[in-house]
Amino acid sequence: MKSKEKILVVGSSNTDIVINTDHFPQKGETVIGYGFMTNRGGKGANQAVAASRLGGNVIFVGKLGKDRLGKETIAALQKEKIDLSYLKITDKAPSGVALITTFPDGDNTIIVNPGANSLLSPNDIRDAETAFTTSKILLMQLEIPVETLTEAARIAKKYGSYVVLNPAPAPKQPLPKELLKNVDILIPNETEAEQIFGVTFKDKDSVKQAMVSMESLGVKDVIITMGSKGVLARINGTILGIPACKVEAVDTTGAGDTFCGALCVSLSQGNSMEESIRFANTASSISVTRRGAQMAMPYLNEVKEAVSI
Ligand code: ATP
Ligand code: RIB
Repeated sequence: MKSKEKILVVGSSNTDIVINTDHFPQKGETVIGYGFMTNRGGKGANQAVAASRLGGNVIFVGKLGKDRLGKETIAALQKEKIDLSYLKITDKAPSGVALITTFPDGDNTIIVNPGANSLLSPNDIRDAETAFTTSKILLMQLEIPVETLTEAARIAKKYGSYVVLNPAPAPKQPLPKELLKNVDILIPNETEAEQIFGVTFKDKDSVKQAMVSMESLGVKDVIITMGSKGVLARINGTILGIPACKVEAVDTTGAGDTFCGALCVSLSQGNSMEESIRFANTASSISVTRRGAQMAMPYLNEVKEAVSI
């Protein structure tokens, strides 16, 4: 692989602690759940793993605590053949943890304790500048500080990289213009898109209208993922609708992460945006048929098999 085909993921890593339930407890209530498991998660690490399993050459920049969960995360990411040369460790906060509740319809609720992820600083990004020189794509999410994202996007543009931002979880404050001006494509889900564009989607037409008005934010292209309803994209001013693959979803945790990682692998290999969206749709549809985040993410041979069916 040529060195400029690398995908640089800057983001969070968490340990996911998961319990299934049929009924979410109200404040003050205790309910009995089932199917407890822990598995590796965090939107940044998830996207790095998805991309690596699908054939991407991936570098991950993040921050972990000096603790058992941090060590386990490093071991797991090493097994995934991800370059961790620029990963930082801190003794000032614990490694990130996410408490996840999953429901019989495949949906979930998540509480994240970011810990060390929230200490990944613009300085850490400047320390990793060499990684930017060999990366074709920078992929980021919103589980690390926004000033860190802004610095990463700025450096990526200095080296001519393509900048992808998955604005998840939905931002509580408007995203800064200095960040958005350096983002080439935004990949929100419906909830995140409503928040960022300040609209309520009633139907596909209102989604399209929001995409047109998004130009005022300074972002050129957008892909809105809509779960089983597929995706709507606006690429170079053209609206593109692509249906999702038909599958039986058991757990959608990490579906968006699989989509983003897969899209970047395909783009890094020179495929068109439409081909890349179709590839990402197939990869993420496989991930929702299995439980967990990283443990559900498919390998390249599985996606190829699914496409040939
Ligand atoms: P999550 O936060 O649960 O990781 P998300 O809300 O960010 O996911 P979604 O839009 O739900 O993202 O899903 C991302 C992609 O995963 C979709 O565009 C689609 O390709 C695939 N996907 C998700 N749910 C389903 C489903 N039920 N059936 C088929 N494909 C699905
Ligand atoms: O997108 C799914 C991820 O969100 C989980 O792995 C969890 O760690 C939270 O970051």
